[in-house]
Amino acid sequence: MNATPHDDTQFPHDALLETAVEAARAVGPRLRKAFRSRPEVSTKRDFQDPVTEHDKASEETIRAVIEGRWPGSAVLGEEGGATGSGRLRWYVDPIDGTANFAAGLPFFCVSIAAAVDGELVAGVVYDPVRDDEFTASTAGAWCNGTPIRSSGATGDREAMLLTSYPTPRDMSAEGEDALRRYGRFLTSFSAVRRVGSAALKLAHVAAGWSDAAYGTRANPWDVAAGALLVRQAGGVYLGDPLATGDYLACVGGFDLASSALSEVAP
Ligand code: IPD
Ligand code: CA
Ligand code: CA
Repeated sequence: MNATPHDDTQFPHDALLETAVEAARAVGPRLRKAFRSRPEVSTKRDFQDPVTEHDKASEETIRAVIEGRWPGSAVLGEEGGATGSGRLRWYVDPIDGTANFAAGLPFFCVSIAAAVDGELVAGVVYDPVRDDEFTASTAGAWCNGTPIRSSGATGDREAMLLTSYPTPRDMSAEGEDALRRYGRFLTSFSAVRRVGSAALKLAHVAAGWSDAAYGTRANPWDVAAGALLVRQAGGVYLGDPLATGDYLACVGGFDLASSALSEVAP
C-alpha cells in the first residue's frame, strides 16, 4: 500500500498522540516529587548546561512506553541519542527547562513529538506542575482537551516576547551585535521575558498566553512538539523543527514584517 502521512493506516495520528500523552504523563509523578527537592546537578557541554538523574530516568520511562506501543520505532532523545529506524520517529525531551526544574522555578515541561516520513503528525508538551497537557495532531491543537487558538497582539507594542536570546553561545558568536538586537527587542516589545524552556514557550504562544517566542540553536527535541502546536493552533512557526537551528513563532495575525523580530527571522 502506498501510504502517506495523511491517510496512514499503519500509523494513525490519534494513536500516536495517545502514546505521546501516556509517555509524558508517566513521568509526571516523578517530576512533581523531585521538584523543589534541589536535586543534584551535573553538567554536560559546559557549566550552563545542567542535567539531573531525573532527566535520564524520565527519558528511559518515556522510551519504554513508546517501545511498548510502537516496537522498534526510531527515537531521538536528548539524553539517549538516536535509536531504532523506520518511517516513524519520536523526538523526546524528558525535561525541557532543566535549569528551572533543578532550581525550583515552575517553568519546565516534557516534550514528545512523532513524525512519519519526516512530517510532524502528533505532539505533546506536558507541564507537570500545573498539570497542563498541550496536544497537537493533524486534526488540531488542544490544552487539556479544549481546542486552542494562537491569537493575541498584532504588533510589538502590545506583544509579550518570550526569548532567552542572547544566550552565552550567542554572545560568543555575535558579541555586541547580540546586545544591540536584544536592546531593540526590549525597547520595541511591551514586555520581554527570559522564562526558559523552548517547548513550553511555544505551547504558551499556541494557547495565546504570550504573543511571540524566539530562540537560537534549538534541537528537534526542544521544538518539534511546540512547532506542531503553534501551527495547528493557527500561529506562525518559522524554522525547521526537525533540524538544529533558530526558530521564531508568533500568534496568528501578528505583523512580523514590521516587528523588531524581522531582523532575526530564520
Ligand atoms: C534548553 C531550554 C532553554 C533553551 C536551550 C535548551 P534543556 O533545554 O529549552 O530554554 O534556551 O536552547 O537547550 O537543556 O533545559 O532541555
Ligand atoms: Ca531542551
Ligand atoms: Ca532536556
